[in-house]
Amino acid sequence: MRRMVAETRLDPADLILPAFVREGIGEPVAINAMPGVYQHTLDTLRKAAAEAVAAGVSGIMLFGVPEDAKKDAAGTAGTDPDGILQVALRAVREEVGDDLVVMSDLCLDEFTDHGHCGVLDAEGRVDNDATLERYAEMAQVQADAGAHVVGPSGMMDGQIGVVRDALDGIGREDVSILAYTAKYSSAFYGPFREAVGSSLKGDRKTYQQDPANSRESLRELALDLEEGADMVMVKPAGPYLDILAKVAESVDVPVAAYQISGEYAMVEAAAEKGWIERERAILETLTGIKRAGGQMILTYWATEAARMLR
Ligand code: PBG
Repeated sequence: MRRMVAETRLDPADLILPAFVREGIGEPVAINAMPGVYQHTLDTLRKAAAEAVAAGVSGIMLFGVPEDAKKDAAGTAGTDPDGILQVALRAVREEVGDDLVVMSDLCLDEFTDHGHCGVLDAEGRVDNDATLERYAEMAQVQADAGAHVVGPSGMMDGQIGVVRDALDGIGREDVSILAYTAKYSSAFYGPFREAVGSSLKGDRKTYQQDPANSRESLRELALDLEEGADMVMVKPAGPYLDILAKVAESVDVPVAAYQISGEYAMVEAAAEKGWIERERAILETLTGIKRAGGQMILTYWATEAARMLR
């Protein structure tokens, strides 16, 4: 009876797997704060992508982790056609073709030695407009490397318009933009810093949103849509379900939510201690996100959850 009357149904196709690939390693490296998640080698990344396809997951979002020596102030490795993210995009496309929607994180933080999402000005502040120029170039190299979708995640003003123009400018109207529309300055990104070997000191409060604010998200949403976003995302997911519901009610484009590293770590840690039922808790968090309006869910459990649902 409960199954018959359920208002919300999770499907493997709702799920998108975020995955990390690290340059210069022979074996995958476990991420301590995210048990079960690894910095992949190109080989294990291919395997993970193939497993996601087999489980019915619909997409993968790639993050590149360059060698430390390749990080610099401008995040040059992010626009190098042979940079780790571009190499990974090509490898995954070769592995899965069009069976999985291949997405790339479009942000500089993994590639800068200061760890910020953009380039800095003389005073050490993130320079919004200089960063946009870097994002335009990143979008083009990611499209060339095979991304079906790019995900600008740096929260710079005007980033969606600049990325759209850059893609159209090289004849890639076919590459879609998943806009990180409402991205909050969150404590729950903690484990991600380890996952990408981030060198960030300080915080991202000058460009990410204040957890106290809701209306600001709708303004970001209007701007992203006007600039050409094809899909919009709220991030983190769990602590921002009200934002997700508001966004979902007010748009006619697909709405995504990103269940981030800290949300994953909390459940894994409590389950490891035997304090909660792991699988039930995983599906409950995902059901809550979908119920709130997240029709596409980025989650580190994507492949496992898809298997549970089958
Ligand atoms: C930016 C980016 C971040 C995450 C995804 N893209 C880090 C940040 O904005 O601080 C976090 C994802 C997670 O915590 O799982 N490149």
